[in-house]
Amino acid sequence: MKVLVTGGAGFIGSHTVDKMIDKGWEVVVIDNLSSGLKANVHAKARLIVIDILDNKVLDIFSQEKFDAVLHLAAQTSVPYSIEHPDVDCQVNLLGLVNIMEACRKTGVKRVVFPSSAAVYGDADNIPITEDAELKPESFYGLSKCTSERYLALYRQIYQLEYVALRYANVYGERQGDGGEGGVVSIFTRKIAEDQPIHIFGDGGQTRDFIYVGDVAEANCQALAAPLSVANRVYNVSTQTQTSVNTLTDWLSKAAGKTVTPNYLPPREGDIYHSALSNQAAVTRLGWKPQIPLADGLRQTYHFLRKK
Ligand SMILES: NC(=O)c1ccc[n+]([C@@H]2O[C@H](COP(=O)([O-])OP(=O)(O)OC[C@H]3O[C@@H](n4cnc5c(N)ncnc54)[C@H](O)[C@@H]3O)[C@@H](O)[C@H]2O)c1
Repeated sequence: MKVLVTGGAGFIGSHTVDKMIDKGWEVVVIDNLSSGLKANVHAKARLIVIDILDNKVLDIFSQEKFDAVLHLAAQTSVPYSIEHPDVDCQVNLLGLVNIMEACRKTGVKRVVFPSSAAVYGDADNIPITEDAELKPESFYGLSKCTSERYLALYRQIYQLEYVALRYANVYGERQGDGGEGGVVSIFTRKIAEDQPIHIFGDGGQTRDFIYVGDVAEANCQALAAPLSVANRVYNVSTQTQTSVNTLTDWLSKAAGKTVTPNYLPPREGDIYHSALSNQAAVTRLGWKPQIPLADGLRQTYHFLRKK
């Protein structure tokens, strides 16, 4: 299989490219290196430095003839999207359309797209299933919801297959401090550097932390899955709520240090509990998370220490 990965020099992209190369797939990466690094890209993948908004993207598609596309390149910060909805819209929506146009004009069969738990906003029932009402509370969440609608309409009008994966909070090696789900990378770095940890609220707030290697495997499975399970949305998650206090405890154990967090007033608008049901991905895609949180945190901490 010949695959294009946009954003393949980034956190989730580079882990997914590594897995694709292990599977013997031919991989081309396009990335503007705005947050990704050349060094993250596997030596056997070909990196082309270009912006997803560039018209020349179509020339690359025409020359290379990809079977499938994993479109990860995006503006990934929720707070940035609140301050700059225009930039968020440009990169996440016009960027998507530029890629989808190149796909349909050059006969790409399938697009796999990373959506997000941010589409749900403050959900009424936990774990959140894919049919829950979508109530995004940021322009980033709105751009992900809208992207899903674009994928469905491209399917309807142009028969371009898609799978949209709503990731929970992804963590692991090579994660930056910006973007989504950055609490693990921020705390890991602070603990490694013996800096104080600040927790907003009482630390009882929960998130669903999923290891990046498990997400990379879900991306690959979505690209290769039979048509009968494509053209829909799946949560990619552990379906487990972990509190920020527990996360801090496990990271301190991984580091072999005693960490006493500073508790600050809760941030307005922060959702208290979050976990996504993964039953659809387990039963239909045949994907299951493999890495327990304690193991993933240990790996993440030791990777950062070595760096
Ligand atoms: N990390 C999470 O917890 C999480 C959760 C849900 C969804 N996602 C989604 O997964 C995808 C990957 O996120 P990540 O955490 O790996 O972020 P990342 O910032 O590490 O990776 C994004 C990559 O895209 C590249 N990029 C950004 N804008 C570009 C542009 N205009 N043209 C070309 N390349 C561009 C960056 O250089 C970077 O390499 C994003 O779509 C993000 O919204 C991430």
